[in-house]
Amino acid sequence: MFKDGLLTHKRILVTGGGTGLGKAMAEGFLTLGAEVFICGRRKGVCDATADELMQRRGGKVTAYGVDIRDAGAVDAMVEDIFAAGPLTGLVNNAAGNFISRTEDLSPRAFDAIANIVMHGTFYVTHAVGKRWIEAGVPGDVVSIVATWVRNGGPFVTPSAMSKSAVQAMTQSLAAEWGRYGVRLNAIAPGEIPTEGMSKRLNPGEAPGARSAALNPMGRCGTFEELQNLATFLMSDGCRWLTGETLAMDGAQGLATGGNFYELRKWGDEDWARARESIKAQNVKDRAERG
Ligand code: COA
Repeated sequence: MFKDGLLTHKRILVTGGGTGLGKAMAEGFLTLGAEVFICGRRKGVCDATADELMQRRGGKVTAYGVDIRDAGAVDAMVEDIFAAGPLTGLVNNAAGNFISRTEDLSPRAFDAIANIVMHGTFYVTHAVGKRWIEAGVPGDVVSIVATWVRNGGPFVTPSAMSKSAVQAMTQSLAAEWGRYGVRLNAIAPGEIPTEGMSKRLNPGEAPGARSAALNPMGRCGTFEELQNLATFLMSDGCRWLTGETLAMDGAQGLATGGNFYELRKWGDEDWARARESIKAQNVKDRAERG
């Protein structure tokens, strides 16, 4: 749906770009001519993704092994990127989430989510934005949030609070940094199944099954739909669009609330099973990070 080379001369950083939705958006930008930078906690995974994407699409992808919870490491990465020229765009995609009854969470569990989603997203946006302002160049930020920024997220309260903070950042900085030509928008996607998400949000279910049952359009979203919307927001066709959150969820949020309210039916055994399954996924991920 976009003309070839639409994003030529764009230089875009995608956090959490080694896997899942981040990888898909990185590939979409690369295909249209952008130079792409990806970061993630697992350097090996990001390196492999960079190689895979360049082999498939050509162009240039640079990978960084950076945890966005580490403000110093974030700043060093952004400094390194800007040394060769300013970024033109940032996608705040890196996140963490898992379902749990809120009364079962420890302070560390809350921090595990808030440190990535709220703090980490701010660190990256701040490191990039201040350099745009200093260099006197415009820039585009797209942050991935969720429809529960509108109506809360029962059983994912730390995520709902943190994603709402990211939406508040989007609105605040759109107003504060508009005079520098810096735009910030957010996308609130419904379910687009990835391994990281399905294992932590719908453990024990077939990926996409919940959307097939509940969504007004009878399905979940696709990588391609997200690539297209992110590309539109990164392109120069509608630069007056800023400070907005665009839901793309087949109207599930409008029809059902788009959150996990139905989990109120779960009992202790369901929650114990979910917790074991989520923890096993965390252990697997930690082993891969080394
Ligand atoms: N229910 C309640 N508490 C839980 C839990 C669950 N299902 N899973 C983890 N926790 C708690 C742990 O008990 C621990 O707290 P404690 O030390 O007080 O006991 C805390 O959360 C951290 O758990 P840990 O197993 O050390 O997780 P981690 O820090 O290795 O990973 C994330 C947590 C969020 C960082 C991890 O899930 C992650 O890397 N996510 C990124 C990918 C992702 O989430 N993708 C989906 C986005 S939709």
